[in-house]
Amino acid sequence: MTAEEDQTSEEDSQPGSQSSAPSALLPSGASVGEVPGPAGEAPKLPGAHECIIEVQSLGKSYGSIIALRDVSTTVKAGEVTCILGDNGAGKSTLIKILAGVHESSEGVFKVDGIVRRMGGPRDALALGIATVYQDLAVVPLMPIWRNFFLGSEPTRGRGPSRRLDSAVMKRITRSELLKMGIDLRDVDQPIGTLSGGERQSVAIARAVYFGARVLILDEPTAALGVKQAGIVLRYIAQARDRGLGVVFITHNPHHAYPVGDRFLVLKRGRSLGESEKKDITIEQLTTLMAGGDELDALAQELRRA
Ligand SMILES: Nc1ncnc2c1ncn2[C@@H]1O[C@H](COP(=O)(O)OP(=O)(O)O)[C@@H](O)[C@H]1O
Ligand SMILES: [Mg+2]
Repeated sequence: MTAEEDQTSEEDSQPGSQSSAPSALLPSGASVGEVPGPAGEAPKLPGAHECIIEVQSLGKSYGSIIALRDVSTTVKAGEVTCILGDNGAGKSTLIKILAGVHESSEGVFKVDGIVRRMGGPRDALALGIATVYQDLAVVPLMPIWRNFFLGSEPTRGRGPSRRLDSAVMKRITRSELLKMGIDLRDVDQPIGTLSGGERQSVAIARAVYFGARVLILDEPTAALGVKQAGIVLRYIAQARDRGLGVVFITHNPHHAYPVGDRFLVLKRGRSLGESEKKDITIEQLTTLMAGGDELDALAQELRRA
């Protein structure tokens, strides 16, 4: 299958684009009419380095296509698990299982040490597992603060005089963004005027505010230039430092290595191994990703005669 075809099949199955699925970042416990407090109703953040998610020997087939086979990893509080691999490696398949979008065909999925069966993304959200997809579910012409609260707006008053509490929403948006180190002059500006990196960081701040304990980011830096990618990497580090477990998907070892605590490399649905940072250098990670032998062969081929 070519990269292009792969892209299409992935877009087709993008959960954010299905009207039946909740918005990628819809908070778990929040409902319209109340001010959803930080950490909502999701379970509390566990202590640093405690295991939140553990998957063992996960497998997933789409009909006769085996997209994932025998993959195991962990997501710990205050740590970043990076999932690396080329197009078609199975990265999105793995995170869709973690996000409750797909059910695995094989393997064990534990959250807080308990075996779970996810019935859908809402089940994952209820456990504090939030996913930020690459094509963020934002409304570009709406102000930043409206997007921050989309689908869970606090209201003021009762009955016919009930209206959106915009002052509260603006204040919370501004302060939550500041907590992530994002200083936006004007939360009234349309979110579409923000750069790609800034939009990603608003989505991250939103997930944190609505009680995410695990933040899954599917290739958040893929479409970004060096500077913008740097912005997103900073917010990943911020979320980590606030105690969240982060799952960071990328095909770029130079993005993964600086923020990652462990690196799972996938190739054609299989794990090429998982390493803690202390056990692998960025050179080794790059070579592993490129499929060492193939890279050597290419270097031979490209050498000047
Ligand atoms: N919904 C689907 N139906 C059939 N095949 C799929 C589907 N989603 C992914 N695949 C296939 O599974 C493999 C892994 O894909 P994916 O998880 O999207 O990889 P990645 O995100 O690493 O590029 C690919 O061969 C892809 O074509
Ligand atoms: Mg993908």
